[in-house]
Amino acid sequence: MSSYTVRVEPIGAELQCREDQTILDACLREGIWLPHACTHGTCGTCKASILDGEVDLGDASPYALLESERDEGAALLCVACPRGDVVVEGEVDADEGVEIHPVRDYTGVVDVLEDVATDTRRLIVKLDAPLSFNPGQYVLLDLPGGGERPYSIASSPVDCGRIELHVKRTPNGAATDGWIFADLGVGTPVSLSGPYGKFSFRPLRTQKILMLAGGTGLAPMKAMLTHILESEAEHEVVLYHGVSTADQLYDREWLTALADECDWFTYHPAVSREECNGRTGRVPALLAEDYPRAAGHVAYICGSPAMVTDTMKALMKARLFPRDIYREDFFDSADRASGANVVRSPLIRR
Ligand SMILES: Cc1cc2nc3c(=O)[nH]c(=O)nc-3n(C[C@H](O)[C@H](O)[C@H](O)COP(=O)(O)OP(=O)(O)OC[C@H]3O[C@@H](n4cnc5c(N)ncnc54)[C@H](O)[C@@H]3O)c2cc1C
Ligand code: FES
Repeated sequence: MSSYTVRVEPIGAELQCREDQTILDACLREGIWLPHACTHGTCGTCKASILDGEVDLGDASPYALLESERDEGAALLCVACPRGDVVVEGEVDADEGVEIHPVRDYTGVVDVLEDVATDTRRLIVKLDAPLSFNPGQYVLLDLPGGGERPYSIASSPVDCGRIELHVKRTPNGAATDGWIFADLGVGTPVSLSGPYGKFSFRPLRTQKILMLAGGTGLAPMKAMLTHILESEAEHEVVLYHGVSTADQLYDREWLTALADECDWFTYHPAVSREECNGRTGRVPALLAEDYPRAAGHVAYICGSPAMVTDTMKALMKARLFPRDIYREDFFDSADRASGANVVRSPLIRR
């Protein structure tokens, strides 16, 4: 297998990348940070210029990497593989206060597998080695038949030998319907890699925090909340957890107890098709009612691309600027195929 030299500008770092390895993967394993979100050629976050040399553009979505951008020498580094020595130029700076944890491969066994709500499972994997990550980041879980899927880590970085994942069933989904909700069981060996993603807690941002989660988008919020609790950091947090029916709410007891014990935390379950606590509505609508002005906050949004986009719009209408909003879109294969939810504005953080 051939391997090539990749130089990353503007820092001038050089590393080796196999011809079957993506440039992003090679960089992240060397501890060289480059912005990325979906790692599957869908969102466009990892777009970079190829200054010299040839790459195979891989499975880059035509919506995320336009024909004109290909002609200008751009590539999505999460799917681009080298075809010779190359020089790439990317935005290498991580935000202040955010640690860089190199990506590694891990094996482990399923320690806990439980149904926590309708079509929602908690999966706890006991790892063979500790995995260091920032709260909010995700892992790529290998599928038994090949391929992998991203799942956000719901547990705290302190408990780095056991990671908790929250998985929603997708009808006809290869990972969920075909495996996690079918033949996966306690004791099953699994393999994964990580940590990935730029959606992570920003400890130095001291504004009041709005956490806006849809369905299993609660997972990274739980990691952040546990981290805040354990580190005794002073942050004021309001969490909205949006689902369509009340049977999809989960970890409600834990969240309610946390809200009762900690004056810095407020919890709003948000059910869109039934009344809940006297209210009905999707997260963006409830947010618009509760926060006609959201300036002065920092927001973390996570869930389906539609939920994230609508919530982002509600926040911007309430005068919260994109620089104060972090988003994680749970893209799936259908989103990848349609490209419907690609975000083009460079102002919008992922
Ligand atoms: C960064 C990130 C973090 C995530 N974290 C979580 C998490 O914490 N919890 C969670 O539950 N999910 C999470 N997801 C989503 C998750 O990774 C999977 O996409 C989801 O579980 C579905 O996987 P699947 O293999 O079951 O479905 P897939 O097999 O990927 O299929 C999904 C849907 O697309 C359809 N489909 C498949 N191929 C095509 C095609 N070519 N054209 C059109 N339609 C097609 C299928 O029929 C199905 O309806 C995350 C996603 C991202 C990007
Ligand atoms: S991280 Fe490369 S396209 Fe999303």
